[in-house]
Amino acid sequence: RKPAGAPDKSLARPVTKVGIVGAGLMASQLALLFVRRLEVPVIMTDLDQERVDKGVAHVHAEIDKLAAKGRLDQDRVNRYKALISGDTTKAGMADVELVIEAVFEEMSVKQQVWAEVEAVVSPECVLASNTSSLSITQMASRLEHPERVVGLHFFNPVAVMPLLEVITGERTDEATLATAFAVGRQLKKTTVLCADSPSFIVNRLLGRFMSDMARIVDAGTPIDVADQGFAGIAPMPPFVLMGLVGPAIALHNNESLAAAFPDRFYVSPALRRVVEAGKRGYYTQVEGRTVL
Ligand code: CAA
Repeated sequence: RKPAGAPDKSLARPVTKVGIVGAGLMASQLALLFVRRLEVPVIMTDLDQERVDKGVAHVHAEIDKLAAKGRLDQDRVNRYKALISGDTTKAGMADVELVIEAVFEEMSVKQQVWAEVEAVVSPECVLASNTSSLSITQMASRLEHPERVVGLHFFNPVAVMPLLEVITGERTDEATLATAFAVGRQLKKTTVLCADSPSFIVNRLLGRFMSDMARIVDAGTPIDVADQGFAGIAPMPPFVLMGLVGPAIALHNNESLAAAFPDRFYVSPALRRVVEAGKRGYYTQVEGRTVL
């Protein structure tokens, strides 16, 4: 399906409660954004209580950090914290109008999540995936109501990156797209409508760019020198950016692009080794993070 442009605003449905599947770093950043911008209850779910508690605690800590910077008064701190809750079941999602999933980038896992969510929510509830590369059409294919599935792809760090990609699957309907755009506006994001093609717009380009940087490094240029070659060209040099998003996500993006376009994308064996070793990145310290 070809995206024709921003959909008819009048078709947008109100969002007064949001469910987030996953309580990891991306999910926590999303929970904070929705609480701050929409001021609606947000329920986070994950497989076990420990992950849920960690996710909720992370959002609380970020709210406290904003308060310490003088960005939030105590009233807002209390209100925002009260809007966040967590659960290990999806029962609390029965009355949400929007669910976002931010779980492991694996098609079968996403399809399983949506099947479980669909059993609980109303038929109109919008099901949005934060996938960075997987097909929205395929993700929705086994559902009873695939017309309410859409991609809502946010960028890291979610609070500051201005872009939101809205990805339309083959069967996504206009009301779903209109709701996605309305939410994008409320979140103050620049919202663009993308076709359901591998890695959409940004990650397709980033994948190309990282692929060639990996070729340069694998040919013998040290990583820090390759990054220095980017001085002033982008807000973050490529391998620092990889430390921010995580090498596993970068590898997954490159692998799925290489599968779709084998002659154009390169998967670095060195990157694969970094991910297999469970490392966070190539550097010892990137913006306060401990990495390889
Ligand atoms: N988490 C949350 N907020 C962060 C942050 C983080 N990791 N890093 C920085 N920020 C916030 C800071 O708190 C600051 O906010 P305030 O002004 O409200 O205090 C703001 O960002 C600017 O930070 P700084 O002034 O310290 O630093 P900067 O000017 O160098 O900007 C940056 C930091 C915005 C992250 C910038 O370096 C940048 O744009 N980097 C590129 C990021 C990027 O390309 N992201 C896309 C990755 S691809 C992706 O996410 C898709 C995917 O699916 C994998």
